[in-house]
Amino acid sequence: MKIVKVNLEYASYPIFIGENIFPKLEELIASSKLYKNLFFVVDKNVYKQFSKYIKKIFYKHDEKKYFYKFCAIEKNKSYDELKKIHSKLLEKRFGRDTLLISVGGGITCDLSGFAASTYMRGVQLIHIPTTLIAMVDSSIGGKTGINFELYKNMVGTFYQPKLVLCDIDFISTLSNREMISGCGELIKYAFITSKHFYEKINDKLPAIISKNKIALSDIIYNSVQFKASIVNMDENEKGLRKVLNFGHTFAHAFEKESKNKISHGEAVTVGIVCALFLSNRKKLISNDALKKYLELTGKLKINKSIFKVDPEQIYKIMFTDKKNLDEKISLVLLKDIGELVLDVHASKAEIIWAINSAIENLNLHHKYS
Ligand SMILES: NC(=O)c1ccc[n+]([C@@H]2O[C@H](COP(=O)([O-])OP(=O)(O)OC[C@H]3O[C@@H](n4cnc5c(N)ncnc54)[C@H](O)[C@@H]3O)[C@@H](O)[C@H]2O)c1
Repeated sequence: MKIVKVNLEYASYPIFIGENIFPKLEELIASSKLYKNLFFVVDKNVYKQFSKYIKKIFYKHDEKKYFYKFCAIEKNKSYDELKKIHSKLLEKRFGRDTLLISVGGGITCDLSGFAASTYMRGVQLIHIPTTLIAMVDSSIGGKTGINFELYKNMVGTFYQPKLVLCDIDFISTLSNREMISGCGELIKYAFITSKHFYEKINDKLPAIISKNKIALSDIIYNSVQFKASIVNMDENEKGLRKVLNFGHTFAHAFEKESKNKISHGEAVTVGIVCALFLSNRKKLISNDALKKYLELTGKLKINKSIFKVDPEQIYKIMFTDKKNLDEKISLVLLKDIGELVLDVHASKAEIIWAINSAIENLNLHHKYS
């Protein structure tokens, strides 16, 4: 088992990464001196696959335990679902000595993190991420939230867990589409970390998609190390942490415009392709660099729904993104691998051009793959 530490002034915590490590959870709760009244928020799909396994591990748990199951779709990253969790916590008489454990993908992490941060002014939280996205990204760094009036992650908090446990075995039941979706965030890391990591992801992408455990543990470990290092330097996204939003202003608009037919990770890949075209148009990267980078993004086959979106609508939605400053669309663009330019403004014409170029490029990869 490998351990990465998030080191923050008031809330440091370990991230455990390994195969078949979920059975160690009870021991870790005890050794970390956490509360033992356990309220699990579990993704229904995960519960279907793993309930016997999870229940067996906590069979002898003497203190209180409750399993709250919910359907992890973007529509349920909502006030309604949050209210249901809070109501259940109250109904089952969970107090301030509660340890809320989220078991699921990014939707479960975001929603249950928000629920934990707001119930009785905050109860203890553990994340057990079960998707690639949740392991490499959403379980780390304390961003919690729900969608509000159809805007993504509009209401939320920064709230750090007490520990994160990434058991790679959960990935075994993910669909091929979810693996490709997870690779969207990995590709983001490829661009924003280093040339070495870019090459590693480029080489290992097929092995990751086919769930090769050696490739997965290596890439997950490196990604977690990178994300933790960024969070350590800028917990509340005042500056540096913005690099993690590379491609995301486009991505959130694609998700919304497709009515979530495009998954988050797929939208991130499309968003990165848009950002690459725009970086080229702004003369930040050369034509040769653009061509090379598009070969990497082209390896991920995105759901065909992206070819139906209206670029004008995407632009309109981007305008409402919470990362914008002074009524202008604010973007993260690429200068070189590992070298990002923050808070770049672009005109409507440039943005629509980038969206059209990205769709055309992904369409070509679709036709010839
Ligand atoms: N807080 C952050 O820093 C952060 C970072 C990145 C993404 N996010 C958020 O994360 C969400 C996307 O994450 P995601 O892709 O994990 O989404 P998700 O939680 O919807 O999971 C994707 C699908 O996989 C299923 N699933 C989960 N684990 C499974 C397993 N082990 N086996 C089989 N099926 C399983 C889910 O039921 C769901 O259908 C978005 O809402 C995004 O905004 C948050």
